Amino acid sequence: MSRYLVTSALPYANGPIHFGQVIGAYLPADCYVRTLRMLGEEVCFVCGADEHGFAITVNAERDGASYPEYVARWRDDAKATFDRLGIEFDVWSGTSISPHHAELSQQFFRRLDEGGYLNKRASEQLYCAKDEMFLADRYVVGTCYVCGKDGARGDECPSCGTWLDALRLVEPTCRNCGSTPEKRTTTHWYLDLPKLRDDHIGEWFQNHPWKGNVKAFVGAMLEDLQERPITRDMSWGIPVPADLVGEEEDKVLYVWFDAPIGYVSFTREWAEARGEPDLWKQYWCDEDTRLVHFIGKDNIPFHCLIFPSMLFGQKQGYVLPWQVPAMEFYNLQGRKFSTSANWTIPLDTFFETYDRDVARFYLLSSAPESADSEWRWEEFQRCANTSLADTIGNLVTRVLRFVAKHHDGRIPPIAPEHEEELDRVLLTECGALEDPADAIIEFRFRRACERLVANASVANVFVDRMAPWTLRKTDPARSASVLNTCCQWIAWIAQWMHPFMPTKSVELWSMVGAPGALADQRWPGLPRAGEWRLLEAGAPLGEITGPFAKLADETIAAEIAALEARVAADA
Ligand code: MF3
Ligand code: ZN
Repeated sequence: MSRYLVTSALPYANGPIHFGQVIGAYLPADCYVRTLRMLGEEVCFVCGADEHGFAITVNAERDGASYPEYVARWRDDAKATFDRLGIEFDVWSGTSISPHHAELSQQFFRRLDEGGYLNKRASEQLYCAKDEMFLADRYVVGTCYVCGKDGARGDECPSCGTWLDALRLVEPTCRNCGSTPEKRTTTHWYLDLPKLRDDHIGEWFQNHPWKGNVKAFVGAMLEDLQERPITRDMSWGIPVPADLVGEEEDKVLYVWFDAPIGYVSFTREWAEARGEPDLWKQYWCDEDTRLVHFIGKDNIPFHCLIFPSMLFGQKQGYVLPWQVPAMEFYNLQGRKFSTSANWTIPLDTFFETYDRDVARFYLLSSAPESADSEWRWEEFQRCANTSLADTIGNLVTRVLRFVAKHHDGRIPPIAPEHEEELDRVLLTECGALEDPADAIIEFRFRRACERLVANASVANVFVDRMAPWTLRKTDPARSASVLNTCCQWIAWIAQWMHPFMPTKSVELWSMVGAPGALADQRWPGLPRAGEWRLLEAGAPLGEITGPFAKLADETIAAEIAALEARVAADA
């Protein structure tokens, strides 16, 4: 057995969560964690909101909210979305409220400094005298010094695509108030990434078995690594330790420096809540821990290079990531999800109409694992109607309704002389079986979804071949044995379904009258002939309901029309 520390990228407390993010870093992690738990592994699943940074201050001010109020609102909103989707973290916190976070972030900073991994340097930056603040590069606009077009930002020119130096913009103005910023000298600390690379991280990275998209991307970055500033001139954030900063005011740690430390702070919070305050060390400082970061691909450099460098630079025996499953981008009907452009799925109302487990299953089955992918309403419908309602739902209702009617709602007996033959037919002749968990632990969620449906289809082939309904008239004992086998199979499907569809699987589990709580079951693996029947003959079924409703064409057409109408109204 191993110990797993699983994290999902901390979402910014700066707006609603959409399905693109959900499938990027949260839902696959939840599915993975549920599988690990059933496999008997020790797991801690950590998340919380990323609450600092300049963008948050701008939006809070626009909304007339204090920073703490503003981030609390979006922290709670994100949590509500995860709750609705059945994504269950062991701890959910926030970087501006977690009790140890500020102190721990300062300690990270100090230890890097002591290790010789920080360089302090003065440089010129643009300062808006009217707003009394240094301007983040994105908050300066002007004329591009490369192509001469207007509308360039301090970091990038949208016309020619060049990465810019904000200080060289022609006729710069403050994006906030429109006045002309001045140049002022300010001091910042830079993380010496080249040194961290040479001391350990370069070698560690090159020798680690990364999956495809990570290896090439970070490998190239390592070649041409620069030191990076990790402090900012502003008031919202974790203050740079007072003794180091000296006279200067309002200097905080850069949001990208403190955010990943949140994984550690939140683990400590979790350990304390359990009454075992030192437990976090077993997860973070024991080389046997497998640290898995679920992220979207835009977060790769931070999780595969910068945060590992920060952890290594502590010289405290922190573990470095074991795997970083990074999803590609997930779009909506051919375009990027965009809350501002109204190209989105309003989640407040979504769950009034649709089942959350069906949404989970569709998202996982369309996950952008190795290429960008998208939510298509027509595909959502097909998944709900064909994979779930026709394949799994139909099996369940036709078998269980028949048993309810003809066997007094109890698991029919299996005659010993039928068992071997039925096992052989079901397990070897009705289609190939594969364990969905094998795919999940390799982060192949699409394949895992396919396997689940394929395993359910095997039972439909079996039912068609054995025709228990007609058999009942000629050989009732054999019909009972076939139905027993089908009920047993439904109990297995319920177990296999659990990581994907935690609620529906429990419903199925109680419909077949299976014993105990499903969440406490060990992962079943693949059935082995003669030793896989877990339901006792004579045990009563639970209440039978159709587990999956079909989605009507009009419903789906209305969604697409509403989506188009929302953008049109906006334009
Ligand atoms: N808030 C960042 C984003 O949404 C992710 C931060 S991940 C962390 O892109 F590791 F820094 F916490
Ligand atoms: Zn200004």
